[in-house]
Amino acid sequence: MSKIIVLMGAPGAGKGTQARLLEERHNLPQISTGDMFRALATDQTALAEEVRAVQAAGKLISDDLVIRIVQERTNREDCKHGYVLDGFPRTTVQAAMLEKLAVEQGKKILAVLVDVPLEELEKRATGRRSCPICGEIYNVYFKPPKVEGVCDLHPDAQLIHRTDDTAEKIKVRLATYEQQTRPLLDYYEKSNRLHRVDGTRAPEAIYADIEKVVNRES
Ligand code: AP5
Ligand code: MG
Repeated sequence: MSKIIVLMGAPGAGKGTQARLLEERHNLPQISTGDMFRALATDQTALAEEVRAVQAAGKLISDDLVIRIVQERTNREDCKHGYVLDGFPRTTVQAAMLEKLAVEQGKKILAVLVDVPLEELEKRATGRRSCPICGEIYNVYFKPPKVEGVCDLHPDAQLIHRTDDTAEKIKVRLATYEQQTRPLLDYYEKSNRLHRVDGTRAPEAIYADIEKVVNRES
């Protein structure tokens, strides 16, 4: 049975970094709701304006909209053999919808928590920069690009600093995570579907553990 790998973790824990590795090495598409909404937010529509404001504030986008987007995206051909969810589900309503979707799609849910203590998260988020062309994720403290502010692979692209990656907004995002998303860890734990990996190590060491979980659960 093909899998839905749910990458869980607080803002800045490294979900995107690990999802990109899974996509590259396991050919499992990365479905990042955050990235999808950031792309949508560049439009000049009332909906885009609303998404921009909610994301910039560090609050959550409405369940209805998120669910519609995930449903549409994961029913595409490239998700047929499984996919990685990065940033979804974030609420109990979203988790319930995913259960139904998994049944409809004939897939098994596997949740992996990238576990990073609170005190390490701020530097990860404030230091993050990403390439607008390939999405490569850098960090001015932990993974600086070769030339400051520029993607190693796209020398003409200036790296982006997300509007919600300020110390002030990170506090709001962490509070949102604690209230709305952390309870989902219990939910997956109770049904024996939660796998915890120590997210304080180097990305490759974390990835090796995730890969073991994915292969073991085949
Ligand atoms: P989203 O884009 O999902 O943001 P997030 O959950 O806050 O997570 P981040 O992307 O900040 O962190 P990450 O875990 O991906 O870490 P990364 O790999 O980049 O969501 C943004 C917003 O969109 C939400 O606030 C909400 O408004 C909306 N939204 C999205 N999904 C939604 C949903 N389902 N429902 C409602 N609203 C939704 O790494 C972070 C940094 O750390 C990088 O600089 C990286 O280089 C570095 N790093 C990574 N791993 C390591 C390591 N092992 N050691 C050292 N540094 C590391
Ligand atoms: Mg991310």
